[in-house]
Amino acid sequence: RKVLVLNGPNLGRLGRRQPEIYGTTTHAELAHLCVTWGADLGLEVEVRQTNHEGQLLDWLNEAADDHTPVVLNAAAWTHYSWAIFDACAQLTAPLVEVHISDPTQRPEVFRHTSVVTPHAVEVVAGHGIDGYRLALERLCRTP
Ligand code: DQA
Repeated sequence: RKVLVLNGPNLGRLGRRQPEIYGTTTHAELAHLCVTWGADLGLEVEVRQTNHEGQLLDWLNEAADDHTPVVLNAAAWTHYSWAIFDACAQLTAPLVEVHISDPTQRPEVFRHTSVVTPHAVEVVAGHGIDGYRLALERLCRTP
């Protein structure tokens, strides 16, 4: 079973980006971990990251057409992109929302809302990189 792990803006700098919040694991290491965790669960995981909103929309549309489950960390777009909201609404297989930090517990009020949550079967937040493993496990339990 194929799964797409889609990461939004600034996550390409994981490991160097505010490590006190996001940790020291790089995006390449995260991608490798996701593929390994997925394989253990019998999932064929493909990890992608983009800083370009249209690219993420194209990938979500592709997932909708192909009935591919998605693990999505839309990063800052989570908090305000109605185009991402609309793309998530079209998904035809389960969606799990992931955040490395817990945006609801952070001081910036703009992080307290998510356009992804209404479409997600689960939100995994505040578990660091391990949250991606928890998200993949969650998808495994979803028919
Ligand atoms: C994030 C949380 C968002 O608020 C932030 O804009 C990000 C990363 C996280 O994984 O904790 O870029 O999605």
